[in-house]
Amino acid sequence: MTMDRVSSGASYSPARRWLHWGMAAFFLAVLCAVEFKDDLPKGHLRHIAMSIHTQLGIGILLLAIPRIALRIRAGRGKEGMRQVWQERAAAVAHGLFYVVMVAMPVLGILAIQTREHEVRFLGMLLPNYFDDDAWLPYALPIKTAHEFIGDAVIGLIGVHWAAVFWHQFIQRDDVLARMRVGN
Ligand code: HEM
Ligand code: HEM
Repeated sequence: MTMDRVSSGASYSPARRWLHWGMAAFFLAVLCAVEFKDDLPKGHLRHIAMSIHTQLGIGILLLAIPRIALRIRAGRGKEGMRQVWQERAAAVAHGLFYVVMVAMPVLGILAIQTREHEVRFLGMLLPNYFDDDAWLPYALPIKTAHEFIGDAVIGLIGVHWAAVFWHQFIQRDDVLARMRVGN
């Protein structure tokens, strides 16, 4: 088995670390809101849960802009993995997160707009280029894709947690230190 890099405590800039934790909190809230929505009685509470889902979801899309820019500028960063396969697996998982943080909000917005409903962000009406009957047949496939990928994201987060747990507590390479904010 090929052994290469050793652990490095200084992989990510403070901005990348803050963005990581901020967006992680948004992801968890976005998922909790939509998962709990169905348990709520029809009415205001359900509507609020869905609003939290859409507003934080669009927030993720906005946070993705600086995050992707920093990622392109700084590169992947030292993963600190000891084996090549681990490094590749991390690159795939992290890459999928980057795809998802753009694709999911876009699909979510389109799922609503192709149904000829409006989407607002903090009260501002988003432009809708799809509020035409011609787009209506795409509404259900787009919503289904959003929901399917959304459920897969839950699995991806589970894998991410398992990998962090493995590194932190089994391999003991202090992986969390690379994402620590503050001192
Ligand atoms: C709250 C639970 C989470 C924990 C404990 C956690 C922990 C970590 C740690 C320790 C790293 C550094 C790994 C390394 O460099 O080897 C990392 C990287 C990363 N995590 Fe998480 N994470 C969490 C949630 C999330 C979520 C929800 C996302 C979804 C966007 C995410 C996306 C990423 C990405 C893309 C990286 C690569 C570094 C970057 O480009 O910012 N994480 N995570
Ligand atoms: C990264 C951001 C997002 C994630 C991870 C995400 C994830 C999910 C998940 C897991 C579901 C439920 C799947 C199921 O019930 O099986 C869902 C449903 C939905 N999401 Fe999102 N979503 C995000 C952003 C958005 C945005 C920005 C919008 C719209 C502005 C949106 C609109 C919707 C809609 C309309 C549904 C269907 C709700 C229903 O009819 O029950 N999502 N999303």
